Amino acid sequence: MVDQRKLPADEIYVTCKNINDVAKAIKTMVIRGAPAIGVCAAMGLALGAARSKATGTRQFTTEFQRNCEQLAATRPTAVNLFWAIERMKRAFADGAFAGESVDQLKVRLRAEADRIHDDDVANCKAIGAHGAALVPAEARILTHCNAGALAAAGYGTALGVIRGAVEAGRKVTVLADETRPFLQGARLTAWELVKDGIETTVITDNMAGAIMRAGDIDLVVVGADRIAANGDTANKIGTYSVAVLAREHGIPFYVAAPWSTIDLDTTDGDAIPIEERHPREVTHVGNNQLAPEGAHIRNPSFDVTPHKYITAIITERGVFHPPFSDSLASAAGAYQRR
Ligand code: MRU
Repeated sequence: MVDQRKLPADEIYVTCKNINDVAKAIKTMVIRGAPAIGVCAAMGLALGAARSKATGTRQFTTEFQRNCEQLAATRPTAVNLFWAIERMKRAFADGAFAGESVDQLKVRLRAEADRIHDDDVANCKAIGAHGAALVPAEARILTHCNAGALAAAGYGTALGVIRGAVEAGRKVTVLADETRPFLQGARLTAWELVKDGIETTVITDNMAGAIMRAGDIDLVVVGADRIAANGDTANKIGTYSVAVLAREHGIPFYVAAPWSTIDLDTTDGDAIPIEERHPREVTHVGNNQLAPEGAHIRNPSFDVTPHKYITAIITERGVFHPPFSDSLASAAGAYQRR
């Protein structure tokens, strides 16, 4: 996988040879972004299974369970990680129930991981197509963090909407919040969009309000790490501030995410676990120290945007409007009945 810590200066690839490498890659942000973490975990479980020396299903099952636990402990907020692990567990259970051998289970897990990957690309494309319909003929779009191809198996969610709009012939220009402290916007979103030839302007996070007030932003679209049953949305720290500013200026605020990001078991945003990351991400940029020794540091990696600030949630199943507790629940019911 491309090492996202090194972009845009260096395009370096990291090879994961075993489950420990995969867990470390997720934890240390070699790979990040909710859907990408989920796909990576599924592939990690397939890799862990493929490398297993277990001769019997009993030992193989114990190892698989341990691998699931190890990956589940890497990052707490993005629900896609847990969703993907559950999907791999179900594939494993189906194979075990059918009396499959260790080798057959390995093949089954590999196939399921590939399906999770391919589904994610297809879902992002569908999100892009649904979202494009919400973008006017000419649009200046603000996004926060990176919800692009790097954060998914490809194409992206929020950037999927932008790509979908461009493909549909809209004239789009993007403002990318730099996204302190990890700089996903400046480093990753801008890198992706510039590569695609989409006009991009990087701004520091504290500029969004003034630019909205000047009338230079038509809509906001962001990704999500977990969407609670009532529509409250956890996403990269700073998203909440952008949503409040958007409301103040009458600008539509869209969340784009695959259905796997929706966690109907979590009633509202207060129940979403928020990852607190290492203070060094705040005190330093690379090796440059920005804050003095002795200062206390906070580094919550995500915040929750209350559902009242969200205009619509764009998924591969369509666009959902408030009240989200109704629209999301009825979509879940409709899909369960299929
Ligand atoms: O800490 P990160 O970089 O994993 O956080 C990523 C985000 O918050 C993204 O906006 C979110 O995962 C959506 S990615 C399609």
